[in-house]
Amino acid sequence: MPDTEKRIWDLPVRLTHWGLVISFFGAYLTSEGPVIALHIPFAYILFTLALFRVFWGLFGSETARFSHFLRGYGAVKAYALELKNLRHKQYWGHNPLGALAVVAILLGILSIIAAGVFAQSRGIIGPWSGAVSAGSSSLLTDVHVLFANLVMTVVVVHIAAIFGYKFLLKDNLITPMIKGTRPAGPDQVEPRFTSITVAVALLAVALAISSLTFRYWGLL
Ligand code: HEM
Ligand code: HEM
Repeated sequence: MPDTEKRIWDLPVRLTHWGLVISFFGAYLTSEGPVIALHIPFAYILFTLALFRVFWGLFGSETARFSHFLRGYGAVKAYALELKNLRHKQYWGHNPLGALAVVAILLGILSIIAAGVFAQSRGIIGPWSGAVSAGSSSLLTDVHVLFANLVMTVVVVHIAAIFGYKFLLKDNLITPMIKGTRPAGPDQVEPRFTSITVAVALLAVALAISSLTFRYWGLL
């Protein structure tokens, strides 16, 4: 039987992904120069989306769940050894190595924000910078910039890996992250998707926590 298009990623995963792309590069590129006033608004959106993605990883659709794609050391090693020979086992969701990048990026974003809220310099005033001494704020500003650059490094590797899959392994992962489906044989079972109502409720919780963190009441 020929392959047919089957569902792999739900709408919340896809919208969150492309939202993370825009807000991460947005926050990074507005960290200096005349656009600096947009640094905190982009960070606010980024934090809301990253928090939502963590909640969705706990309570969301099957392929979005951490329990579905986080695997042990043995699986990661076996997968990495296969990749060395330009072969790979297909996973209906994140592969064991990609899963590590997902967690590193999400934890990294939360760490950038955790230090960033206490940072203060060159006209950007972190929402909680007044709650710590000037010395601590200055140290956390340095930590903030360090984390931002570490996450950018992981993101560059992430993007290079996606293009490596496309051109070296002939496996297009980008189209499924846009359309939500990919071709599969008759044996492939579609994952269980959680309802959009649950996603909206979790997004509201993420937005509330983000507003409290940024002391920003615009959307509440
Ligand atoms: C334009 C550049 C980018 C492209 C083309 C891209 C593409 C992709 C693709 C195809 C996947 C799915 C991988 C798979 O099938 O296992 C993915 C996953 C992911 N990417 Fe990207 N990505 C980009 C930039 C970014 C950036 C800037 C971030 C965050 C700062 C990011 C964070 C993530 C996360 C968290 C996932 C996991 C998705 C989920 O389960 O929610 N990506 N990316
Ligand atoms: C809570 C939200 C945030 C606050 C309050 C904040 C605050 C600041 C402050 C005060 C600085 C100036 C440091 C200096 O003078 O060198 C800074 C720099 C920087 N921030 Fe953020 N930031 C936030 C979120 C983010 C996010 C999400 C990213 C990355 C995606 C980011 C990336 C950077 C980078 C790369 C710099 C260094 C700019 C340079 O080269 O001087 N920030 N941030």
